[in-house]
Parts: sequence; structure tokens; C-alpha cells
Amino acid sequence: MRIFLDTANIQEIRDAARMGVISGVTTNPSLVAKEGKGDLRDRVLEICSIVQGPVSVEAVSLDVEGILEEARRLSRWSPHVVVKVPITPAGLEATATLSKEGVKTNLTLCFSANQALLAALAGATYVSPFVGRLDDAGHDGMQVVADAVEILEYYELPTQLIAASIRHPLHSIAAAKAGAHVATIPYKVLMQMVQHPLTDVGIERFLADWKKVMPAPV
Ligand code: G3P
Repeated sequence: MRIFLDTANIQEIRDAARMGVISGVTTNPSLVAKEGKGDLRDRVLEICSIVQGPVSVEAVSLDVEGILEEARRLSRWSPHVVVKVPITPAGLEATATLSKEGVKTNLTLCFSANQALLAALAGATYVSPFVGRLDDAGHDGMQVVADAVEILEYYELPTQLIAASIRHPLHSIAAAKAGAHVATIPYKVLMQMVQHPLTDVGIERFLADWKKVMPAPV
């Protein structure tokens, strides 16, 4: 499973990229708004220069023509740009056209395996089930990921599944076990995945023992 970072924050992206573990970034209108006013194109180009992998940017139009116009404009910014499109009848129609034009898409706000199948049939590059939001609503978000992966693989559909709305490290493990191609993970959760108290205790003990006999690192 590949990991994308779910943020529009440049510092978080720089820090995660330096660890060599992320291969893309996903943003959404809320994540961009959190960073305050500013030129979206500049931000997206900076993100693309840091990760040099897929960078999802959401179209905010809701009608077919609007989505198409926005998606074509966003995709001209960089070959790394993937246009996020909500799964609606208009979103699917736009995706079918964009797919023929070679514009990469990430069908977002996916809450069922049926929606994931429809996204794949329309030619989506990626589809993003929102695990945490399903869990919040009393559903089993990861089951949607598992069902959708099974369907995509059974019919050999090339759409990649991104487990999104990841809230804690156990979501990441479950997404990997369910066969998600990608999990898009907030920075905070990524750091929770890195850290373990026994790692810290282990380092402390090793260094304490080392200092008893050795004056400095070799
Ligand atoms: O980027 C889409 C998704 O990951 C949003 O997550 O936490 O707002 O449900 P969340």
C-alpha cells in the first residue's frame, strides 16, 4: 500500500517527504481553506515540486460543464495534478469525458462499494471511500474499502482505491490488510504510525549502556 499525505500544509508535506514514505498528496476544499487565503495554483505547484507524485486538487463546480472546465484548467497546472470530483451523476458524466481526454481523476466523497464501482466504470483513475466519516455515521467504513477492492480486482478494473478519511493508525493497518492501493493519511496520524514508546525506551537504554563504556559515537 502506498501512502499519500492528506493535507494542504507545505511544512507537513516537506517533513513527511523527507522521511521517504509518501508518494502523493491529497487536498480538499476544507484542507486548503485551513491554510488561509492565497493563490491555489502557487500552493499546488509547490506541493508538486516537493512530492513529484499524484497531487489531488478538488473541483468545486457541481455541473458537468463547470467540472470539465475546472478539471481541464487544474490539470494543465502540472502533470502531477489529479482532479478530485465528487461522485454524483454530473461527476460521473464529467469523469467519463475527462478519462477519454487523459485527465487524471480521484472520485471523492465515496461512501459505498456501488459508488466505487460506478466511479471505476466511468474511468476514474482513483476512487476514495471515506472510512472515518462512515464510522462516525455508525457504519463500517473499512468494509466498504474491502468490498470495493474485491470488486475492482474481480473485474480487473484499473481504478486505484485510496482509503481516505483515515483517523488513527489502526485504520492504516486495516486499509493495508483490506488491499487498499493507497491510504491518504493526515500528518498527525503518520507521526503516530512512526512513533512507538518502546522504540523511545529502547533508544534510551541502548544509549545509557553505551555511555557506560564508550565516550562518544564510533
Ligand atoms: O481528503 C478527504 C478525506 O480524507 C477527509 O477526511 O477527516 O475530513 O473525514 P476527514
